[in-house]
Formats: sequence, C-alpha cells, structure tokens
Amino acid sequence: MVKLIILSSRLVLFLSSAVWWCWTTLAAAGDVGPVAVRPGCQARCGDIDVPYPFGIGSRCAIHSGFVLNCTATNRLLTGTLEVTKISEPDGKFWMNSFASRQCYSPATGMEYINAWVNFRTSSSPFFFSPVDNNIIVIGCNSLAYMLSNSYTVGCLATCDDSHDNTTAKNGVCAGIGCCQVDVPKGVQNYDSFFNENYNTTQTWRKYPCNYMAVMETAAFSFNTTYLTTTEFFDRYNTSLPVVMDWVISKKTCKEAKEDTTLPYGCISNNSDCIENELGYRCKCSRGYKGNPYVKGGCTDIDECLDNVTYPCGGICTNTLGNYECSCPQGKHMTDSGVCMPNQKSTWVMPLVGASVGVVILVIGISCSCYYRERRKLHKIKKKYFQQHGGFLLFEEMKSKQGIAFKIFSEEELEQATNKFDEQQILGHGGHGTVYKGVLKSDVVAVKRCTTIDEQQKKEFGKEMLILSQINHRNIVKLLGCCLEVQVPILVYEFIPNGTLFHLIHGDHGQHISLSTRLRIAHESAEAVAYLHSCASPPILHGDIKSSNILLDGDYMAKVSDFGASILAPNDESQFVTLVQGTCGYLDPEYMQTCQLTEKSDVYSFGVVLLELLTRKKAFNLEGLEHEKSLSMKFLSLMKEGKLVDIFDVQIQNDENIEYIQETAALARQCLEMCGENRPTMKEVAEKLDRLRKAMQHPWAHQNPEELDSLLGDWSAEGVVNTGNFSIEKEVVTGLKSGR
Ligand SMILES: *[C@@H]1O[C@H](CO)[C@@H](O)[C@H](O)[C@H]1NC(C)=O
Ligand SMILES: *[C@@H]1O[C@H](CO)[C@@H](O)[C@H](O)[C@H]1NC(C)=O
Ligand SMILES: *[C@@H]1O[C@H](CO)[C@@H](O)[C@H](O)[C@H]1NC(C)=O
Ligand SMILES: *[C@@H]1O[C@H](CO)[C@@H](O)[C@H](O)[C@H]1NC(C)=O
Ligand SMILES: *[C@@H]1O[C@H](CO)[C@@H](O)[C@H](O)[C@H]1NC(C)=O
Ligand SMILES: *[C@@H]1O[C@H](CO)[C@@H](O)[C@H](O)[C@H]1NC(C)=O
Ligand SMILES: *[C@@H]1O[C@H](CO)[C@@H](O)[C@H](O)[C@H]1NC(C)=O
Repeated sequence: MVKLIILSSRLVLFLSSAVWWCWTTLAAAGDVGPVAVRPGCQARCGDIDVPYPFGIGSRCAIHSGFVLNCTATNRLLTGTLEVTKISEPDGKFWMNSFASRQCYSPATGMEYINAWVNFRTSSSPFFFSPVDNNIIVIGCNSLAYMLSNSYTVGCLATCDDSHDNTTAKNGVCAGIGCCQVDVPKGVQNYDSFFNENYNTTQTWRKYPCNYMAVMETAAFSFNTTYLTTTEFFDRYNTSLPVVMDWVISKKTCKEAKEDTTLPYGCISNNSDCIENELGYRCKCSRGYKGNPYVKGGCTDIDECLDNVTYPCGGICTNTLGNYECSCPQGKHMTDSGVCMPNQKSTWVMPLVGASVGVVILVIGISCSCYYRERRKLHKIKKKYFQQHGGFLLFEEMKSKQGIAFKIFSEEELEQATNKFDEQQILGHGGHGTVYKGVLKSDVVAVKRCTTIDEQQKKEFGKEMLILSQINHRNIVKLLGCCLEVQVPILVYEFIPNGTLFHLIHGDHGQHISLSTRLRIAHESAEAVAYLHSCASPPILHGDIKSSNILLDGDYMAKVSDFGASILAPNDESQFVTLVQGTCGYLDPEYMQTCQLTEKSDVYSFGVVLLELLTRKKAFNLEGLEHEKSLSMKFLSLMKEGKLVDIFDVQIQNDENIEYIQETAALARQCLEMCGENRPTMKEVAEKLDRLRKAMQHPWAHQNPEELDSLLGDWSAEGVVNTGNFSIEKEVVTGLKSGR
C-alpha cells in the first residue's frame, strides 16, 4: 500500500512537470529579440517597437491595414488614433481612444460628447479585444450603449442610496455609480449613445456628468471622485487605453493560403498558422522563436542555455525544435528529471505503477470530458443570453427591485409546457407558436418564436426592458422571458376567451351589440395609444389585427403580440428593411417606405374598426378583384354613397345609424392613404370614448346638431399631428474621430 502511494505521487509529479514544461516553452516563444522589419524600414517610432507585419509607410507593412504613420513628433498613428504598444506574439496592440460624456447644467442644458471609433473597412483586421476591454459607464442614473454593426450593449449605473446602504465604493464597479459589461466578440466599430431618459437633470448639483468608455479593463479602477468631479474625463478624454486584437486577414488558414489578393503571412520556416473565428495569425512552431511573418524569422531555441525554463539534471543536448536530456553511463533519469545511480528494481513496481497510472488517467479523462460537455452547454446558453442583451436586462432588474418580470430558464418553460407538447398549442401566430403552460399553478401563455433576425436580436434586451414595464389593463401582460436559447421565448399572462377575430368571424354567429363593439374598439385604441406614448422612442405594435386582440373573462379587450414589434427607430440606419404584417391590415405607405410609424398602427386599427362594423374579414381571397380587401371595398362603397350595404345587419337600426356613420367616418380617417392625414391613436381613442358616452345619453340621438357638436368637428381637430411625440434635439459637440 505504501509503495502504491509513493508511485502515484510520482506520477502526479511527472504530469505536473510536463505541464510546466509545456507552459514555459510557450511563454518563451514570445520572448522576441531585436525587432523584425522589412529591409530599409524603420523598426521604432519614438520608443515604441514596430514589428512586421506592421510597418511605417505602405512599403513596410504586410498590407494596407497594417500601415502606421510616425509623425514628426514621434507619435505612432493608425488613422488618427495613437498606438502606444504592439505585441506581435500576442496579436494585440494598445492605443489611445476617446471617452464620452453627458453633462447637465441649467445654463447650457444637456451636452453630449459622443465618441466613436471605426475600424470597419475591408482591409482593417483590428477588433476590440473582448478579453482585455470592458464597456464602462460611470454616473448617477446613466444608461449608455455601445452601438456597433453587430451588437448593441448597454449598461446602467445607478445612484447611491444611503437608505439601502448601497453606496458607490472605490475599486468596485458593480452597478452603483459605475457599471461594466463585456465587449462582445468581433466588434470593429462603435458609437456611444446615452439614453436620454437617464440623465442628471435631477442630481446635477452633486453629479453633473455621466461617462461612457470602451477601455482596457486593467487600466481602470473606479474612484468615487469620478462621480463628483471631472477627474475621469480629464484623465481619459483623449487618452483612453484600449486593447485591440488583430489578425492578418479575416480568412481561415486554408483560404489565406489560396488567396491571390493578399500575400500569405506565415512565410518563415518552422512557423504555424493559427486561426480563430475572426481570421488567422502566425506563430513560430514549438521550440522556435522569432517573427513568423518574415523569411527565416523563426529560429531554434537553444534550450540548454536556459536551465530554469528547460530544466535538465543531466547532459543537455540541443536539437532543432527541441532538446534532449540524458544521464551519463551507470545513471538513470528519475521522473523528477534528476540523474540517479542505477539500482536493481523489482518487476512488480513498474507494473503496479503503470496500472495505477492507467486508472487515474481514465478517471481524469472521463471527468474532464464530462466537465467540458457541461461547460460547452453552459457557454452556449451564456452566449445566447449575452447576444440577446440579457446582461443589460439583468442589471436593470437588479436596480428596480419589485419589478414583476422574471427571466426564466429553459428547463422551467419545458416543464411548464410539457416539453412544448402539441396538445398545449393555443395557436400559431405570424412569428411563432403559442403554448399554454402552467407555472406554479398559474396558467400562462408561452410564445416561442420561429426566427429572429439580426436587427431584433441585438435589440432584444433593450426591448424586453421596456416591455417589462408596460402595465395597462388592456394590454396582455408580459410576465418574463427566456434568453438562454437561440430564439428568445416570451411568457405572457393567459387570456381565456379567445380572440376578437373568433368572436366576429367564428361560426357561432353570436349577437354582438353595437355598444359592445364600440367598447372593444375603445379599449383596444386606448391600449395602442398607451403603447405609442409610454416610452420614448414609442413602441409600435406593427401587427394590429382582430386576431391579436384577445378577450378576457368579461370580454374586455387585451392587445397582444406587441413583443414582436420593434421600437421606433431613432436614427436612419436602423430603419427596418423587411416589411412584415398581415394582408388586409398593412399600411400602404409602410409598404412603400418600409418605415413603420405610429400611423401604420392607426391604419391597421381602422381595418379592425371596419371588421367590427361589417363583420367581414379584412382580406377575402374568394372575393372579386376589388373586393378582396375590406378597406378597399369600404372606401369604394363610401365614394358611391352605398355604405349601408356593407354594415352588419345585426346592428343596423334607426337608433344606431348615427353612431355607425360616425364610426365609419372615423375608420375612413384612419385609412387615409397619407399617414400624416390620419389621426393619432390618442385622438382615435378619445373619439371612440366620446361616441360611447354619447350612446349612453338618451337625448343624444334626438338632436343631431347637438350630437355633432358633442362629437366635435373631426376634420378641424384630427388632421394635424399635435406634436406629442416631437423629438428633442440634443446638443452634440463633436469630439469624433476614427478612420
Ligand atoms: C501622418 O500624420 C500626420 C499628422 O497627423 C499627417 O500630417 C500626415 O499626412 C500623415 N502621413 C501619412 C502618410 O498619412
Ligand atoms: C451598512 O453596511 C456596512 C458594511 O457593509 C455595515 O457595517 C452597516 O451595519 C450597514 N448599515 C445598515 C444600516 O445596514
Ligand atoms: C432627463 O430624463 C427625464 C426622465 O428621467 C426626462 O423627462 C427629461 O426630459 C430628460 N432630460 C433631457 C434633457 O433629456
Ligand atoms: C481617488 O482619487 C483621489 C483624488 O485623486 C485620490 O486622492 C485617491 O487616492 C483615489 N483613491 C483610490 C482608491 O484610488
Ligand atoms: C481633455 O483633457 C485635457 C487634459 O488631458 C484637457 O486639457 C481638455 O480640456 C479636455 N477636453 C475636454 C473637451 O474636456
Ligand atoms: C526552409 O525549409 C526548406 C525545406 O523545408 C529548405 O529547403 C530551405 O532552405 C529552408 N529555408 C531556410 C531559410 O532555412
Ligand atoms: C544553471 O546554469 C548556471 C550557469 O550556466 C549554473 O550555475 C547552475 O548551476 C545551473 N543550474 C542547474 C540546476 O543546472
């Protein structure tokens, strides 16, 4: 038994020394001697080494992306950004970038300095290192985003709260006064952007400014003085350290070797090509050191000269790419690398040793396989979580305790819906399938989208953040979401009485009074008006139709499916390029401009009004050419003055006709070709409210003139947008730079 223990401990010793050897060999390969450059090229700029593939001037670099400029004052520039250090073996370089800020003073109002950096050209293979940099937001009540072409990442820094005993602390950047979040992989450009709803107008006396920076994590330590003084900005405004990863080109090793437009980088003998998802780089093979990008750049390491990194207790002999360590005659090498005099050993010892070793090895391998599988799964989940902006959401939820919004795990939802069983399907929407589920005895509706486009993906966390705060009795409540899957899953409250579509067009032919129809219309209009006004930018529904209006136990309307809608874009590049919606409800102007506006929702709502009045489907494939679309049929009948033909007979009687005509007039306003001429949703809701109230007053229909004045003169009131949603202009002082 004692022997056994000794042997296994020897084995461990051997393994650990092997690992150490590997590690030190790799580390030593990075130990570069004199800087390798092309003949006749400058190797330094000031005191910064410029190793090939970088070069000062286009003749000296491997390709145009690596050309640097050394100015007369010895500043090394890439474009207009100053490079401070280059590491060829690590594939990194350091540079000075810019910080952004948002400051308020009553005298000047809100002022912004929004920094941006752009390396997104075809030849530039530089990426913001996701490992070495962080997105840092400093301030009291500051939500800032890094917007890049592929991702939007935001971070929220909240205020000190002495009641909660939560105060900002030096060196701690975890949400209070300071927040940090990872830079996503593969980012080549960004714009900084402060959410204007989070600002210092309330706290400017103590905290005048908020800051945002994409910077080297190691170079930053939070200091509470950053909150109250301009110290952070003074220090970093133009010299913000940033670490960039670089590759030779955005190609795989195989593609690069076959590429005819750019020279292949790994030209030294004994060099290897290494690749990752961004592109390829080169390194000297094991046992060699130097610069793999130049001919003969990788030279053999003479391991015998360095007995610390390459220990050898015996006679050391250097070989190409390796070394041998042997013992003189009569001695043998022990596992710890020391020469010992030979002694007679019994045959049992190696046998036992070997079998113990095999057992340990097998256990070790299976453990590590299992561990790796688990880690892989976890990493995938985390990747999706991050992609969908989960961290932003998480930060926000932490700061707003008591918010009734939950992030669910995939398992929880699988359990709730019996593994998304077909029996549980409630319906198929345009964007996915809705399942009935039971979560801790509460019935919920679980929506699993079929696809998600890139645009939606990066906005998802931001969108959830806003949707989670929507609270209106006529809007289906979003209870939570699951972000750790490829396509996020949404969890809504369950509404029991089906859709408005079913009620109107179902086979029951149930009698529905005009006042019920007006109530449902009014409630839905209120809900959409609320969506348009509760957030900035406004939330657009984008797919209003009778099958998206659900009815609860008391037949109260609940608008659903706004989870798939996008937030109104606030800059031109964000316009959606894909027109989505449902036939019969689509705003013709939206189809032409591809730009969804509040007025597109108004148009779709007009069609729902028609459905309520006529009990006809919005789109009828079997109809005649010009009668396929309900709205077109309605408009042409209206022109001919034959509207009476189209209204549902159930509601046509002398008492109602006034209100039906008013509602039809409202629908026509909503269906105006030009969005600008349509009323706002708020105006539609107000009008419907007035109609309902008027209907409840028995005297109203006895005196038509009075009714008219009560209802107001629509054309004078509704056409001009009242400008409730005007966009506030920001003061941007442009400290902008890039390539
Ligand atoms: C190098 O930078 C200086 C200073 O910005 C500029 O004047 C000069 O044109 C640049 N040279 C090249 C080759 O880009
Ligand atoms: C606040 O926190 C500090 C340290 O974490 C603790 O010593 C102190 O008792 C706390 N005060 C209150 C009121 O919770
Ligand atoms: C600051 O935020 C508040 C909401 O928190 C908003 O009402 C106000 O308009 C914002 N001020 C500016 C100048 O953006
Ligand atoms: C914070 O900044 C102040 C003022 O510059 C300095 O005196 C203090 O040492 C800093 N504290 C830490 C922990 O860095
Ligand atoms: C940037 O920082 C420098 C000090 O490094 C300061 O002189 C300058 O005024 C700052 N710029 C702005 C716009 O605040
Ligand atoms: C590189 O290796 C090839 C054969 O693999 C050899 O012919 C050539 O001389 C070597 N070049 C140098 C510079 O060592
Ligand atoms: C390592 O080399 C140095 C000088 O070459 C020598 O003094 C030292 O004894 C050697 N150490 C070992 C462990 O061989």
